[in-house]
Amino acid sequence: MKMALIEKWFPVREISRDAAIEMAYKAIPAYIKHCRELKISEKRIKEIGREFYDPKIRSLHPWFARRPCSVSRALTLSAVLPSEVDKNTFMKAVGWDSKSKACIMGGYPPILFYVDPDRNLIHQILIKYLGKKPKEIIVCDPMAGGGSIPLESLRLGFKSIAIDYNPVAYLILKGTIEYPSLFGDKLAKLANEEFKRLISYSKDVLGKFYPDDSEGYIIARGIKCQKCGGKIPLLRTTQINSNTYISLHFNSEKEFEVNLTRYPTKLPYESEKRGEIICPYCNIPISKKEAYKIWTKTHVEILNELKRGVINEEKILSTYVLLVRQTKEKEKYIICNENDNYLFLEACKTLMESFKELEKYLPLDKIPDNNEVFSNVKEYGIKYWYELFNPRQLLVIGTLIKYARERCEELLSQGKLGAAISLYLAFGISKVADYNSILTSWKQGTIRDSMGSYAQSRKITYSEWFCEAIVPYRNLNWIFEPDASSKRKTEGGIYPVVDELCKRIGGLGKNAVIINGDSRSLSSLLGNTKVDVINVDPPYFDTHIYSDISEYFWQIFRIILEPYIGKEFVSTINGWNIRSAQVPREGEIIVRKNRKNSKNIFDKEWYTEQMSIFLKECYKTLKDEGVLLVWFTHKSLDAWETVISALCNAEFYVTRIWPVTSELLTRLVTKGGNGDSTLNRTLIIVARKRKIVKDVKENELKDHVIKMMKEMYDALSELDVTEVEINTFLQAVAMCAVTRVEMEGKNIQELISQAKGIAREYIPKLLKERYIKKKNTNLRDFLVFDI
Ligand SMILES: C[S@@+](CC[C@H](N)C(=O)[O-])C[C@H]1O[C@@H](n2cnc3c(N)ncnc32)[C@H](O)[C@@H]1O
Ligand SMILES: [Zn+2]
Repeated sequence: MKMALIEKWFPVREISRDAAIEMAYKAIPAYIKHCRELKISEKRIKEIGREFYDPKIRSLHPWFARRPCSVSRALTLSAVLPSEVDKNTFMKAVGWDSKSKACIMGGYPPILFYVDPDRNLIHQILIKYLGKKPKEIIVCDPMAGGGSIPLESLRLGFKSIAIDYNPVAYLILKGTIEYPSLFGDKLAKLANEEFKRLISYSKDVLGKFYPDDSEGYIIARGIKCQKCGGKIPLLRTTQINSNTYISLHFNSEKEFEVNLTRYPTKLPYESEKRGEIICPYCNIPISKKEAYKIWTKTHVEILNELKRGVINEEKILSTYVLLVRQTKEKEKYIICNENDNYLFLEACKTLMESFKELEKYLPLDKIPDNNEVFSNVKEYGIKYWYELFNPRQLLVIGTLIKYARERCEELLSQGKLGAAISLYLAFGISKVADYNSILTSWKQGTIRDSMGSYAQSRKITYSEWFCEAIVPYRNLNWIFEPDASSKRKTEGGIYPVVDELCKRIGGLGKNAVIINGDSRSLSSLLGNTKVDVINVDPPYFDTHIYSDISEYFWQIFRIILEPYIGKEFVSTINGWNIRSAQVPREGEIIVRKNRKNSKNIFDKEWYTEQMSIFLKECYKTLKDEGVLLVWFTHKSLDAWETVISALCNAEFYVTRIWPVTSELLTRLVTKGGNGDSTLNRTLIIVARKRKIVKDVKENELKDHVIKMMKEMYDALSELDVTEVEINTFLQAVAMCAVTRVEMEGKNIQELISQAKGIAREYIPKLLKERYIKKKNTNLRDFLVFDI
C-alpha cells in the first residue's frame, strides 16, 4: 500500500497560519499583516485599504462549528497524493503560490480560499503516480455541517459526497455546493434579480412601519413593579457606545424619562446582589429572572390579544419600550419619539388585522420539551416559536415568509433551478429572523444576533433589552447585498457568496452529491460506492447541540420551502418526516450534559457506542487502501479516550496525527483569558484499516508511544501553542499509539491507561529537552477588540 503524503508530511505552520487568518472574526488587520508577509507592495496594500472583497461561505447562513476551508483543502489533497510528492509541488497544487496574485489583482484577502487549487497539476500528479484522473477519486464527508470539507474537495476536482443528519445543514450544503456547481453564473444572476425583487417588495409593503433613515432600535423590556405598579424599563447597562450613555429619571407619577448624555451614568435601580434589581419607586428587590417572567407573560398576552383582534396601546408601549434609535449617521443615536411609537403601533394594528391571513406562514409550533438549548426562554414563559418575536418583528417575518413561499410556488415550474433560488431567499429570511427577534441584544454599537447568546453560553437566553433592525431599508440590503461588486468591500451578504461560489465551482456539478442522512448507515447510503478518502469532522463530544439550536431556523425553512419538500428536498432518515416541525435528534451523535428527557442516550457510553457504529460504517465504505481523516479536539481526556476506543472498535489504527488551527481565535477575547487555558487547535487523526502488530512487548509499546509523542511535539513546535494544548495533545497522541498494537492479555482500555502512564512520565522530560514557546504571542495579531 502506498504511503499517503499526509502520513509523512503536512505543512502545519503555513496551513494553520492561513486558517487563523481565514477564521479571524474581524480580520482586516490580519489580512494586512499577511499581505506584508507575502511581500505585497505597500502601494497596493494602501490602495486596498480596508476594502477587501471577502465573501466567505459562513455569510450564507449561520452554522455551528464551521471549519476553515484552507485546512479542509490541504488535508484532502495530502491524503490523496502519494508521499513522493515534494513540498514545493504540494504547495503549488494546493494553490499557495497564487495567494498574492489574487490579492493584488482581485482585492481578495490573501488566503487560500480565494485561490483555486492547480487542478491541472493535480491531474498530472495523479496520472503519474496513481494512474487515475481526479474525478475518479471519491471523497466523502459523512458529517459535513456547513460544507467546508466537501466544497474544497470538489474544488480539487474530486468526486465529493456530503452527508449531514441535520436538515438545516443539508440545506446549507445544497446551497453552498450543489446548486452553484450545477448552475454556475446563471444562478447568481437570477438569484440577484430575485433578491432585488424581494427588497423592493418589502419596501412597498413594510416600509411604512419604519423610519427610512435609520439603522436600528434598542428596545427595553418594560415591566410593571408587582408591588407599586411603577413602570420599569430593563436596561443591561446605560452605555450605548464608547461615548453615549442613557440617563433615566423616575418621577412620582411612577413614570420615567429617558435622555442621552456623553458622560457615564449609573443604572438607577441596580442592586448590590447579582441578578437582582431594586424598584426605583418603592425599593423592593425584584430578581431579574422574575422580571423576565413578568415581561414574557405580558408579551405573550399582547400577541394573543392581537390575534383576537384586541389592541391595548398603553400595554404595548410599556412592554416594548422603544429607547434609542441608531441613525444612519455614524455613531449617532437619538431617543425614540412619538413617531417611533406611532410606527410601531401601526405595525401592531396591521398584524392584528392580517393575523388570519398570515397565520399559515407563521412558526406556530411548540418549542419541543426536549429542546434544551431553548430551556431558559421556556422557563421565562415562551412556549411557541412565534413568541420569540415582538409584534412588528412577527408581522415582518410573516410577510416575508408569505412572499417567499408564494414565490417558491411560482418557481416550482423551473425545477431544481427554482429550488435553488427559493433556497437563497429562505436563507435571507432566516437571517432576518436571526437579527430580528427578542433574543437579540445590543453590544456597543451593533446588534448581536439571536445566536449570539448561544455562541457564548451554549444556551439561548435573553436579558434586559433586545434590538430591531430596519428590515426594509437597511437590514435586507445588508443580508442580501445585491449591489455588491468585487471593487468594494463586502458586508457579509448572501449574493456575493453565491456569486463567488458559482464562479469557483460552476461546471463541477456532476461531481457533487448531497444527502440528508444518518451516517451510522453510511454503507447503505452509498450502496456499492467505495471511497478513497473519508474526511470527517464529527461532533466533539458535548461541544454543540446542533439539533436544538438549528430548530429555530428550521421553522422558517420548512414553511417557505414546503412546495419543494419531498421533491427536491428529501431525507433518508428513518423515523423522521421531513415535514415535521421538529428536527431529528435521536441519531445525532453528541453528548448532552443535561439528559433529563432522554432515556439512557446521549451519555458518554452512548456516544462511544455510536461513534463506533459510525466508524465501523466508515470501515465498510472505505476502500482497503483508503485513508480516514478524523478531526477532533477536546480538553477532557475522557473525550479523547472515547474517540480512540471507537477507532479501535472499528478496526482502524492511527498512522499520524497533525495539530492544526481550526477555531475562531476571537474566542480568546470572549473568554477573557490570554489563551493559556483554551484549545485553539484541532488534531487531525490519520487512520487506516487496521494492520496491527501482534504480541507487542512492554518496551516496544513504550518506544512506539514515545515515537508518536515526539512526532507530535515536533509538529507542535511549528505552532505557538498553549501549555494546555501541549499537555492535552501529547497525552492524546500517546493514547492513539495503542491503536496499532495488541498485547497478550490486555484489552484496549488497559492499553490506553498504560499509554497515559507513559505520557505522564515522559512529557516533563520532553518539555525539558526542548522548549516550545508557551504563550500565544502571535495569536494576538489576529485578535481585534471591539471598540
Ligand atoms: C463539527 S460539525 C461539522 C462542521 C463542518 N466540518 C463545517 O465546517 O461546517 C459535525 C456535524 O455532524 C453532524 N452529525 C451529528 N450526528 C450525525 C449523524 N448521525 N450522521 C450524520 N451527521 C451527523 C451534525 O449535524 C454536524 O453538522
Ligand atoms: Zn415598586
